Amino acid sequence: MRDESLILEMMLDQTPSTYLLGPLAGLELGRFVPTPPPVYIIDQLVAELHPACLEQIQNSCTNCQQPALLVPGGEPFKSLTELEKIYNWLSEQALTRDGTIVAIGGGTVLDLVGLAASTWRRGVNFVSIPTTLLAMVDASIGGKTAINTSGIKNPVGTFYPARGILADVGFLGTLTCSDLRDGMAELIKTAAIGDAALFAELYAARENLNKTLGQNAANEPVPGILGALPWRQWVGRAAAVKVNLVNRDFRESGPRKALNLGHTLGHVLEAHSHQSDRPLSHGQAVAIGMAVVFRIAAERNLCPVPQALEMIQLLEACGLPVTWPAPPADLLEKLLSGDKKVSARSGLSWVLPERIGKIRVDEKVQPTELLRWLETPEEG
Ligand SMILES: NC(=O)c1ccc[n+]([C@@H]2O[C@H](COP(=O)([O-])OP(=O)(O)OC[C@H]3O[C@@H](n4cnc5c(N)ncnc54)[C@H](O)[C@@H]3O)[C@@H](O)[C@H]2O)c1
Repeated sequence: MRDESLILEMMLDQTPSTYLLGPLAGLELGRFVPTPPPVYIIDQLVAELHPACLEQIQNSCTNCQQPALLVPGGEPFKSLTELEKIYNWLSEQALTRDGTIVAIGGGTVLDLVGLAASTWRRGVNFVSIPTTLLAMVDASIGGKTAINTSGIKNPVGTFYPARGILADVGFLGTLTCSDLRDGMAELIKTAAIGDAALFAELYAARENLNKTLGQNAANEPVPGILGALPWRQWVGRAAAVKVNLVNRDFRESGPRKALNLGHTLGHVLEAHSHQSDRPLSHGQAVAIGMAVVFRIAAERNLCPVPQALEMIQLLEACGLPVTWPAPPADLLEKLLSGDKKVSARSGLSWVLPERIGKIRVDEKVQPTELLRWLETPEEG
């Protein structure tokens, strides 16, 4: 690895998991593939946009191109249907118990392929190469895999750490502005949970964030984005926060729950919006969820009001939404009770900020409090 690379080590359920961040980190793939050749499952858009890079990665591992399945990225494809297509393809490849699956893509592809890897022949070696900002700072780290089903976000999944996570911010240059905004939501969340100095840096960069992400066309890449902001430093700092949390609490019985900041409400709004003609992305939903819990915490005098305002201003500077039409009250309660964080004994657990960098888990929030900070639903 080059000098400017970052290496973070985890031990998750007695399984080592290494996060490498650096230019062409993917070329280290061979270190994490005990029995080559691996098979590749790749986001089809990434395969179109980065063919030379993917060829280099594959050649670095086995000196030749190996079978690759191209899959669509995006929330609707985190599904049982796509999972079954993957199983059928793995069967055609005759992937044995000692084989390796390399997943290359954003959080949806990593969640889906991670679930396939954890269940194929009761678990084969898994390596991930995250290609979105959100996947680099969050989805690739900590071994949670999932698909959506029955109108619920992520109810089916496993804890199954990747042996290696190879992150290279060079992939970010082709992301659309809206995908970068989604990643910023998780980056801001991670800073708010565990790195107040990083949050302060992001807040100080809000004018530049607004010029680059807040004001560009959502569906287009942002010209010059790679050089405009210190991605390598930000991704590394956020990854270190998540690595620390999952190392301490892989199964999410305590401190790891902090990573759900903004997610309890976010998941509900995200799933509900997908039944409408205004689907929210994961990052947008998390941004709304964070803005609402910061407002609730400020109203309870738990979190200083200026810090709640900083959170809201930073999200807005990145072009992220901070409120949304509320689902009808009875539906909101029903959707919340379907959340996977509901425990039969203690009900739904919420994450609330005490201040930037200090988070409380296992808090209670009433639906009426949420409704105060969401927009009144439109009639009809
Ligand atoms: N497992 C976890 O711990 C965890 C944590 C956070 C989020 N997630 C999950 O992550 C998912 C969201 O991930 P995401 O935001 O990466 O979305 P995504 O995977 O849908 O990717 C967004 C879009 O970017 C495209 N894309 C990927 N890489 C690209 C690149 N380099 N250049 C251009 N386009 C590219 C994809 O094809 C897709 O259209 C959600 O399903 C969420 O639940 C999981």
